[in-house]
Amino acid sequence: MTGAHESEIVLTPLDEPALHRLLEAAVADADPREVMPPVDGPPGWTRARREAFLALHRRRSLDPDTAIETTWVVEVGGRAAGAARLRPVHSTSSVAVEAGVWLCRSVRGRGIGKRVTEVPLEAARDGGAARFIASTTVADTAGRRLLSGAGADLDVRGEDVDASLEL
Ligand SMILES: CC(C)(COP(=O)(O)OP(=O)(O)OC[C@H]1O[C@@H](n2cnc3c(N)ncnc32)[C@H](O)[C@@H]1OP(=O)(O)O)[C@@H](O)C(=O)NCCC(=O)NCCS
Repeated sequence: MTGAHESEIVLTPLDEPALHRLLEAAVADADPREVMPPVDGPPGWTRARREAFLALHRRRSLDPDTAIETTWVVEVGGRAAGAARLRPVHSTSSVAVEAGVWLCRSVRGRGIGKRVTEVPLEAARDGGAARFIASTTVADTAGRRLLSGAGADLDVRGEDVDASLEL
């Protein structure tokens, strides 16, 4: 994948070395609340949050016994700058996929999120999924625009926004 303001965008499947580069990027240039579920403690990238970040991705993507989703590191100009993930959600009648994207602050607002979102969407279509779902917050204007721009219906519940797109 190339484009966005002459920066090359590459999606690399997550592995252990890439996970460490991803954590470094998140610590340098993102807030923990933007990239992982809440962990108790003082604000910022505490040791507990760094360990939880590694454990989360190992459990959800890297350990074959527990993996439930596919994660890619978003590399911009050769550096880790975010992540995209895709998780199949099976119900009795159909297969949906749940996706998420986050980017480092320094590369936001340049159209990269829009380009990156195409990858899980295409993967979902290729995999025969019937529905694409994602969640964000009312405060995340770029995320909401990204999802509505992809054609998703947005359902606002308090601070939370659930997006759903029939494929
Ligand atoms: C959400 C996120 C991935 C979007 O990626 P991005 O590269 O910044 O977004 P893009 O530049 O591709 O822009 C996507 C849309 O949001 C709009 N947008 C981008 N930054 C914006 C801002 N600060 N305020 C308002 N709108 C903004 C763009 O104009 C575009 O809308 P349009 O297509 O209607 O013009 C990124 O901002 C991010 O990582 N945010 C924090 C993590 C997060 O909350 N992720 C959950 C998302 S599901």
